[in-house]
Amino acid sequence: MPAIVIVGAQWGDEGKGKIVDIYTERADMVVRFGGGPNAGHTLVVGDDKLVVRLVPSGILRAETTCVLAQGMVIDPRSLVTELDELERRGIKLAGRLLVSDRAHVIFPYHVLIDGLREKGKDAIGTTKRGVGPCYEDKVARRGIPLGAFRDTNRLRELVGRAIDDWAPIVHHLGAGEVQVPTVDEVLAAIEPTRARIVPMLVDSQALVERTVRAGKKVVLEGAQGTLLDVDHGTYPFVTSSTPTAGGACVGAGIGPTRIDEVVGLVKAYTTRVGGGPFPTELHDHIGERIRKVGAEFGSVTGRPRRTGWLDLPALRYAVRVNGLDALAITKLDVLTGLDEVKVCVAYDTKHGRTEDLPMDELDSATPVYQSFGGWTEELGSARAMTDLPKAARTYLEFVEKQAECPFILVSTGPRRDETIVLRDPFPL
Ligand code: GDP
Ligand code: IMO
Ligand code: MG
Repeated sequence: MPAIVIVGAQWGDEGKGKIVDIYTERADMVVRFGGGPNAGHTLVVGDDKLVVRLVPSGILRAETTCVLAQGMVIDPRSLVTELDELERRGIKLAGRLLVSDRAHVIFPYHVLIDGLREKGKDAIGTTKRGVGPCYEDKVARRGIPLGAFRDTNRLRELVGRAIDDWAPIVHHLGAGEVQVPTVDEVLAAIEPTRARIVPMLVDSQALVERTVRAGKKVVLEGAQGTLLDVDHGTYPFVTSSTPTAGGACVGAGIGPTRIDEVVGLVKAYTTRVGGGPFPTELHDHIGERIRKVGAEFGSVTGRPRRTGWLDLPALRYAVRVNGLDALAITKLDVLTGLDEVKVCVAYDTKHGRTEDLPMDELDSATPVYQSFGGWTEELGSARAMTDLPKAARTYLEFVEKQAECPFILVSTGPRRDETIVLRDPFPL
């Protein structure tokens, strides 16, 4: 039975929450393999909306085990806030929400440093949740895994060491006016979360690998998107982890041979939050309209998302980097009512025209567009491709062919039922 990976094919917010929620209806386990509280995945059931940050998007499915794997960075206070919210909604968590004891902890000093850097000239528009500094500590081999919560003496020692390392940087970034918190302050902030989190800690690698080996249905849920990948994204305007499909294996602790299918998510247009190149960005009333109709405001920070046309060279790049087997296209309904819909098919660069993404020249390359006729019909009630207006189908058929990857699903609204399922990744 399959283990499937779901990844974002753009700059995040492609609708991973909605699609993972749909796919976990029949899954045994859902695993978040990377990122942290920088993610915001929206689940809409009827009129009810829930945004999860750290907790996997399968949480609404009572029979599904949800795992926060060791590729993640976890702010214990954010996690407890999220647990409170879920419990308030009557969602049972005991025994079905498990957290890796090797996931790294985001401490208050990580959040402080992220915020201070964002005030400087090298700001990249992060979510200021401390994600980057926490991953820095991890690769610098002074990070603190959640397992340290089991032993307060050890925790004190490790926090002390990390603070000593960060103190000169905080002093410099804060122009001598900001102090790094003391060990006592950090431990006091963390202490109320320990009793909640320690009972959830597990060896998630062993658990996930065993579940996959037992032939259960497992969804590996990506956060962020391909173009935010620290290796394959628009560096340095990226996040500090590996949201591409390879990151699912590393972050969850299973080998590539155990993955049966990789599904990429793409919006019918493009958005980006924060700084960095975005060649197909719209600065006009159409961009404004897409933002309004698509409710394109960050689910974590509330920032308006930048909006623009779909970028096929970027999509083909995502298909290749992730080895995508299939694409789920979301938010098609947001384009309803536009007179024309454009899509970038190539780039003009200093070296001529290219159909590949000119990663090193994104600031100077000029997108080449192909234009399609718009449609005015409401799409939310479509359950098959033949229910869609002809103009919308023409657009989808073009994108599918140009992306060189078959569609598995078309999403036409935030709700579960506003979906055209073309193929079930978990056939009975
Ligand atoms: P994620 O980070 O990839 O999970 O995406 P977000 O939840 O941050 O942003 C996607 C937004 O679009 C959410 O508000 C979803 O409820 C919404 N959404 C998802 N699919 C569709 C769709 O097909 N149409 C519309 N109109 N909204 C959608
Ligand atoms: P989901 O999972 C959209 C962006 C930030 C910033 C850059 C680095 O909801 O799709 P970070 O705080 O990670 O150091 O910020 O990455 N970013 C996201 N953009 N969706 C996300 O997650 C994002 N997570 C990070 O806006 O540009
Ligand atoms: Mg999001």
